[in-house]
Amino acid sequence: MFAVAGVTGNTGSVVARELLAAGEKVRVIVRDAAKGQAWEAKGADVAVAQLDDAAAVARALEGVKGAYLLSPTSVASTDPLGESRSQVDAMARAVAASAVPHVVFLSSIAAHHPERTGPIVSVHHAEERLSAVARDVTFIRAAYFLENWRSVFAAVKGDGVLPSFLQPGRAFPMVATEDIGRVAAERLLAGPAGRRVIELAGPEDYTPEAIAGALGKVLLGREAHVVPLPLEQVVPVLTSFGVSAPMAALYRELYESLHTGHVDFERRDGAVVRGKVGAEAAFAALAA
Ligand SMILES: NC(=O)c1ccc[n+]([C@@H]2O[C@H](COP(=O)([O-])OP(=O)(O)OC[C@H]3O[C@@H](n4cnc5c(N)ncnc54)[C@H](OP(=O)(O)O)[C@@H]3O)[C@@H](O)[C@H]2O)c1
Repeated sequence: MFAVAGVTGNTGSVVARELLAAGEKVRVIVRDAAKGQAWEAKGADVAVAQLDDAAAVARALEGVKGAYLLSPTSVASTDPLGESRSQVDAMARAVAASAVPHVVFLSSIAAHHPERTGPIVSVHHAEERLSAVARDVTFIRAAYFLENWRSVFAAVKGDGVLPSFLQPGRAFPMVATEDIGRVAAERLLAGPAGRRVIELAGPEDYTPEAIAGALGKVLLGREAHVVPLPLEQVVPVLTSFGVSAPMAALYRELYESLHTGHVDFERRDGAVVRGKVGAEAAFAALAA
C-alpha cells in the first residue's frame, strides 16, 4: 500500500493513477472526505487529513511502504511561509511517528538555496526537516510547471498575447506535472534508495517566445506574441487576481531570482532528468 497526498491536484492525481495502474494498493489523503469518493470508486482507500495535522497524517501513513507528499500553499495566505513551515513540521512529525519506509516529496528547482527564492524557501525547509526524520527520502526538484501558464490562457485566447514576467529570448527549464507524477510513482515503485535528489525538467527548456508559439498553436491556431511585463508589475498584477500581498512579494522575489539565474538547478546539464511531455502536449491536455 502507498499513501498519496494532493490527489485532487496536478501531480498527486497522476501519482495515484499510475500506482493503481501498476496494480498497487493506494490510500489517498484528502482533506475533505467527499473528494475521496472518486478515488474510492477506482479502488483506493481514503484517509482524511489536513497536512498540518501531524496525528491525522501519521494515521494516514500507518503501515504503508511509501508515501507521496507535497506542501501546497494557498495564494491567498497572508503568512505563506509561516503556514507552510507549520505544515512541513507537522508532516515531518507524522513521518517520524509512522516510520514510513520511503517518502517521495515534491520539492522545487533551487531548493538547495536557503533564501532569495520566494516561495521555494518553504521546500528548502521541507528538505531539511524530512532529511532529518525520514528513513529514506526522494526529493523531486521540479522545474517551473508548464501548467503555470494556464493563468494566461484567457489573454492568449482574447488578445493573442502572452504576458510574461520571464525575460524574452532566454530559455528556462519547465516541466509538465504529468512527468512529475509519473517519475514520483516510478520512484515509489522502485523503493527506498537512501536520500536522493532528482532534478526534473521537461524534454527541453523554453523561451517565452517558444511558450507563446505553443500556446498560440493550441489555443488560437496562429502565433501569439510575448508582451514582457516589468518586475515592478508582479505585485500589482498578482494582487489584482486575489493573490495576497505577502505571497505576491514572494513571487516577485522568485521572478527576480529567475532573471539573475539564482533560481536554477543545483547540478544542471547531464544530471537533470528530462521528462517526455513538451509544452504543446501539456497545453493541449489543459485545453481539452
Ligand atoms: N508551480 C510551480 O512552478 C512549482 C514548481 C516546483 C514545485 N512546486 C510545488 O508544487 C506544489 C503544488 O503541487 P500540485 O500542482 O501537484 O498541487 P495543486 O494542483 O496545487 O493541488 C494541491 C493539492 O493539495 C491538496 N491540499 C491543499 N492544501 C491541503 C491541506 N491543508 N491538507 C491536505 N491537502 C491539501 C489539494 O486538495 P483540495 O482539493 O482539498 O484543495 C490538492 O489536492 C506547490 O505547493 C509547490 O510546493 C510548484
